[in-house]
Amino acid sequence: MEKPGAKSVLLVVGGGIAAYKALELIRLLKARGLGTRVIMTKAAEQFVTPLSVAALSGEKVFSELFSLTDETEMGHIELSRSADLVVVAPATADLMAKMAQGLAGDLASTAILATDKPVLIAPAMNVRMWHHPATQRNLATLRGDGIHVVGPNAGDMACGEFGLGRMAEPAEIAAAILDLLGGGAKPLAGRRVLITAGPTREPIDPVRFISNHSSGKQGYALANEAVKLGAQVTLVSGPVAMPAPLGVQLVAVETAEQMLAACEAVPAPDLVICAAAVADWKVANPAPQKLKKNDNSEPPALAFAPNPDILKTLAQKTKGRARLVVGFAAETENVIANAEAKLKRKGCDLIIANDVSQGVFGAGRNTVHLVSASGVENWPQASKDEVARRILEHCAGLLK
Ligand code: C5P
Repeated sequence: MEKPGAKSVLLVVGGGIAAYKALELIRLLKARGLGTRVIMTKAAEQFVTPLSVAALSGEKVFSELFSLTDETEMGHIELSRSADLVVVAPATADLMAKMAQGLAGDLASTAILATDKPVLIAPAMNVRMWHHPATQRNLATLRGDGIHVVGPNAGDMACGEFGLGRMAEPAEIAAAILDLLGGGAKPLAGRRVLITAGPTREPIDPVRFISNHSSGKQGYALANEAVKLGAQVTLVSGPVAMPAPLGVQLVAVETAEQMLAACEAVPAPDLVICAAAVADWKVANPAPQKLKKNDNSEPPALAFAPNPDILKTLAQKTKGRARLVVGFAAETENVIANAEAKLKRKGCDLIIANDVSQGVFGAGRNTVHLVSASGVENWPQASKDEVARRILEHCAGLLK
C-alpha cells in the first residue's frame, strides 16, 4: 500500500524482452510503499500487456501522447513531474538514443524530456548493441546530462549471445531507486549486527599457514548493506584484500580462535551472520620457529586439531544468544539437504545455502537458497550486494 506522503516513481517501460522484469519491479516498489505510475512505449506493449501493468501498479497506464482523455485527466507535462524520480526500465538502445538527442516523438520520450526530476535508466539490449560506439556515445552523453544508470549486467541473453546487456535485476533497480530517493527504509535502525567474513589463517610455523579461497566479498557486502539499513555493525574479518565498508566497526583477526574470541566480545547482538570461511582444523602444534627443509629430511607430518565452530557456539549459547543467528552453507552437491542438516546441527535459525560447484569464491554474483524451519526459498541469481540487501531485509522482517 502507498503510504500517505510516500515518494513516488514514474516508470517508463521500453520495448525489449526485459520488459517482463518491469512487472516484478512494480511489485517491489509497491511493497516498499512507493507510488508507481507507468508509461509504456508502443513497443513495450508487444512484450507485456498494459492490463498486467495496471493490475500491478493499481493505476491507469499511459501510452498515448495525443489522447484527449489522458490529457484531460493528467497532461503529459504534469505526468512527467508528478513523481519524485523518473525510472526508465528497460532503457532500450532506441530510448537511450532518443534521450541523448532530446527527441520527443511519443509520450515516453516527451515525459523524459519534460521532467524536472532525477532520471534513472536501466539499460537492456543485445551485447553488440550495448558495445556499439553509438550506444556508448549516447551513454556518455546521458551520464554527462546527470542521468543515473543501473546495470547492465553480464550474462546469457534472450538472443542466445552472452555478455553485457542484461537489464539489472528488479531488486537491484529497486535498491538504486531507494538510494536515489534518499534514505530508503531503515528497518535495522537500532539493531546491533555481528558479521563474520573472509578466511581464517591457521599457522604451521611463523611464516606458513593453512587458509582457503574466501574473498570476504559476501560478508563485506552484508556489512555494507546492514549499515545502509541503519544497523550498528561489527565486522569480524579474516585477512582479505578489501577496505572495511564505511561506518562498520572492523575487528581484524587471523585464526578461528581469535575470530570466536572477537565475536564473543561483542555485547548483545540482535543478529549474527556467520559468513566467514572458517578453517575446520588448525595445526595442533604450530612450530615456534620456521620449519627447515634439510636436503634429505622427510616432509613434516602435520597433526591437526579441530577449530571451534563459531556459528554453532554462538547459536547454542544459553545466555545472551542473539535473537537471530544465520549461517552460510557452501555446498558442491545436495545443496538443500545438506543445508537442512546443517541448520539442525548448528542450532541456527537460518542457513543461506549456495552452490559453489560453479565457482562462487571471489565472483561478484551469487545464487542462494534460504533454508529455515519454515521451509526453503529459492532466490534468483543476483549481485552479492543485492543478495546481501535481501538477506538483511528478510532478517529485519524476522526481528520485527
Ligand atoms: O560446517 P560448515 O563449515 O559447512 O558451516 C558453514 C557455516 O558455519 C558458515 O556460516 C560458517 O561461517 C560457519 N562456521 C563457523 N565456524 C567454523 C566452521 C563454520 O562459524 N569453525
